[in-house]
Amino acid sequence: MTDPLHDEKILILDFGAQYTQLIARRVREAGVYCEIHPFSMPLDAIRKMQPKGIILSGGPASVYEAGAPKSDPRILDLGIPILGICYGMQLITEQLGGRVGRAAEREFGRAVLRVNEEAGLFAGLGGRDTTVWMSHGDRIDGSPPGWRTIAESANSPHAAFTDEPGRRFGIQFHPEVAHTEEGRRIFENFLVRVCGCTRSWTMRGFIETSTSDVKARVGGAHVIGGLSGGVDSAVAAVLVDRAVPGRLTCIFVDNGLLRQGEADQVRKVFGEMFQLDLRIVDAADRFLRALDGVEDPERKRKIIGETFIRVFEEEARKIEDARFLMQGTLYPDVIESVSVKGPSVVIKSHHNVGGLPADMKLELLEPLRELFKDEVRAVGRELGLPDAIVNRQPFPGPGLAVRIVGPVTRERLETLRRADAIVDQEIRAARLYDDLWQSFAVFLPIQSVGVMGDARTYENVIVLRAVTSQDGMTADWARLPYDVLGRISNRIINEVPGVNRVAYDISSKPPSTIEWE
Ligand code: XMP
Repeated sequence: MTDPLHDEKILILDFGAQYTQLIARRVREAGVYCEIHPFSMPLDAIRKMQPKGIILSGGPASVYEAGAPKSDPRILDLGIPILGICYGMQLITEQLGGRVGRAAEREFGRAVLRVNEEAGLFAGLGGRDTTVWMSHGDRIDGSPPGWRTIAESANSPHAAFTDEPGRRFGIQFHPEVAHTEEGRRIFENFLVRVCGCTRSWTMRGFIETSTSDVKARVGGAHVIGGLSGGVDSAVAAVLVDRAVPGRLTCIFVDNGLLRQGEADQVRKVFGEMFQLDLRIVDAADRFLRALDGVEDPERKRKIIGETFIRVFEEEARKIEDARFLMQGTLYPDVIESVSVKGPSVVIKSHHNVGGLPADMKLELLEPLRELFKDEVRAVGRELGLPDAIVNRQPFPGPGLAVRIVGPVTRERLETLRRADAIVDQEIRAARLYDDLWQSFAVFLPIQSVGVMGDARTYENVIVLRAVTSQDGMTADWARLPYDVLGRISNRIINEVPGVNRVAYDISSKPPSTIEWE
């Protein structure tokens, strides 16, 4: 079967760089499908995959150290175009007989790249100097025999090189990082001019292909899936329902730990607008009973995860002929390499719709397994999902329970919900919502003294948390304008009963985390 969407594949071999996923996203943005695999991928598997080009990622090791990760050197002789980035370039050098050495000092940050030869990779740069992002402790002291240097920087005499026909390249800088001005053009040049890709990867194409895949797989069977209110399950659901109309039943568990208006929005968007077969289970009492008096954050997570699975399972069993379980799994969840998974995955136990009992014998249907988050959003837009869902900031599975420090009570939930709604309104009104990774309120179980009129008050504290981040693994506190902070604080103190103090959290991650629990 021909599959125009995946006809052209780029293989990215991962040597453990923090930026590997970013390389893949840049390739996808340029309209070419790519996959990340560990550097140890066997030669046969690579041949079978028939990539149009191979990118060797960066990595923290030194090629001359014992135990440095090395791909099969024969990869370089397959006749497939190669782009080695940073460590990838040093590995090419080492494997083809050039010289790699330690740089006099580590080069980190912006550098000016002087391009001596356009050679395909730098086509269209017009021989101009350009700013690139460097991050390396080693450098090339001698190119492999027969290769020539095509660009240099102050600290890297061989900042880019190529072989004689100009099919294999090494670059010392990071084109995937936004600080590299011409990064996008460099990737496009490699993909189009060097590898000959026609840029067939589009989200419209993805929708068509995956719709027919889902149709072929599901046939006349029935699918169940959980809606969480987040973008992944939402897009998966709309896609599956479009592929097999009327064969998907969505279950939305209202755990009583949601933000204000969230359950209503799910009902409106999926029940009314998209007319999905939607079962909303109001399980708030059950969750709150299970959480009664529980203080420990990890126990809260566990209880919520387990209760969720039980409720979901009970509901799922009512749909007798279900054969598939739809999940909103994304590509970063399934990439094999360790470097692309963040430490936060293990530091806090996350709960997902994962642990359904084996006796239900459901087959997994994961229509978004190939996509990055930005692509999921693009698919969502293409499918007509409202911005409010597509651009939603991440929200943790255990919901407001991990934003109430200490035991969760109805009263605290109510207070937090009101404060949080004000944060949301003001952040949106200031047009900051899309620039922030997350912005929300946290409830502290302590009281502080205040004055209201002539009377002394002794009431709760709300903390405002707003962070910027690329992926949630590291984050910086957002430099919100004072007037926005002022408005949020005034409104919370005036409008939310039981709160007389608002504090702004100015901690970054690490060492703090984004959530308070
Ligand atoms: P932290 O607090 O670890 O959060 O800096 C990183 C990102 O993960 C989200 N988060 C969770 N998501 N279940 C989830 O589904 C959880 O238990 C959980 N804890 C944190 C958090 O909102 C942030 O985006």
